[in-house]
Parts: sequence; structure tokens; C-alpha cells
Amino acid sequence: MTAAAGGRRGDSDVEVTLCPGGPMLLRGASHVVGEDGARHEVQRSVVAVCRCGSSARAPWCDGTHKLLA
Ligand code: FES
Repeated sequence: MTAAAGGRRGDSDVEVTLCPGGPMLLRGASHVVGEDGARHEVQRSVVAVCRCGSSARAPWCDGTHKLLA
């Protein structure tokens, strides 16, 4: 999964946490741009972005990575 994220307006700090075998957590992001170039607005303070490529809700993690181990 390839994604780009933008920070909240006026605050460029976005905290990224990579979860082993799981998603990428973004704190403070305003949007995520998916592999297809579509922009997804972030409505929550923390969101989980899929890194395994198997989510049915891409770019968001839907927990499918837990079934892949
Ligand atoms: S990382 Fe959770 S579904 Fe892909």
C-alpha cells in the first residue's frame, strides 16, 4: 500500500506509527491520498491506514491483516 498524508491546516505535524504486521497509524493528518490518487479526508484524530493491501476499505485498515498471519 502506498499512501501520502497531509497535515492539518496550520499544523504540519503528523505522527506516524507503524504497527508490526498491521496498519500505519496517523495522528493529526487531514487527508490520505491512496494508490489510485483519490483523496480521502480524515475526520478523526487517529486513523489506521492499511499496509497489507488486503483491506476491503482501502486505504483504511479493516482488520483483515489479522487473518493473513
Ligand atoms: S493492515 Fe489491516 S487490513 Fe491491511
